[in-house]
Amino acid sequence: MLRRLQMEAVRRKLTHRQTNALCTVCSADATPATQPLQSPRSTVRIQFRGQEIEVARGAKLRTALLKSGLTPHSEGAVYINCRGIGSCGTCAVEIRGTVHPPAWTTAERLRLNFPPHAPPNNGRLRLACQVACMGDLEVVKYDKFWGDGDSPLPDLLRSKPPVVAPLGALEFVLDPGAAATGDGGNGEGGGGGGGSRDDGDSDHQVGKK
Ligand code: FES
Repeated sequence: MLRRLQMEAVRRKLTHRQTNALCTVCSADATPATQPLQSPRSTVRIQFRGQEIEVARGAKLRTALLKSGLTPHSEGAVYINCRGIGSCGTCAVEIRGTVHPPAWTTAERLRLNFPPHAPPNNGRLRLACQVACMGDLEVVKYDKFWGDGDSPLPDLLRSKPPVVAPLGALEFVLDPGAAATGDGGNGEGGGGGGGSRDDGDSDHQVGKK
């Protein structure tokens, strides 16, 4: 009987502590020892050439940019690229922030060590089609067809929307996660039918500057 009373007293005290962080009965030790686990954010922000977009966490960077009316390709590479296989090397960008995987994939190792990509510039690059966005990112695109130049491309002028997805949804048909991550909401290209940058609202343009 005594033991049951003691157990009940302990149980009540524990319950009391869990629900009363500022409890005066339980004195200074009333704060829970651990904070509740926080679930990871479902979206991340990407800053790219003077624009800011919000995309689904885990989305492929190339797909996320294209569906937001932006592109990791420059010059004629907007039209001539491998559409995400990891073989052309034209989606090369510098990424500041957390992506997955954190280091070069096999495809990146092969392509970013193949001309015109070469040391030392290749060391700062990732292929946008090979990485998933896991945290807020700052993405820099360098000049030249393969993005292997020395100068970052300038901020985009919103008054002059470029063509970013000439093939529409076919641009990211090789990205199996495109629909699952909710990029663009319904699997349609951010460039829409014409494949050009849309300055209106879309799922990815919530945080645009
Ligand atoms: S699109 Fe060709 S390597 Fe990324």
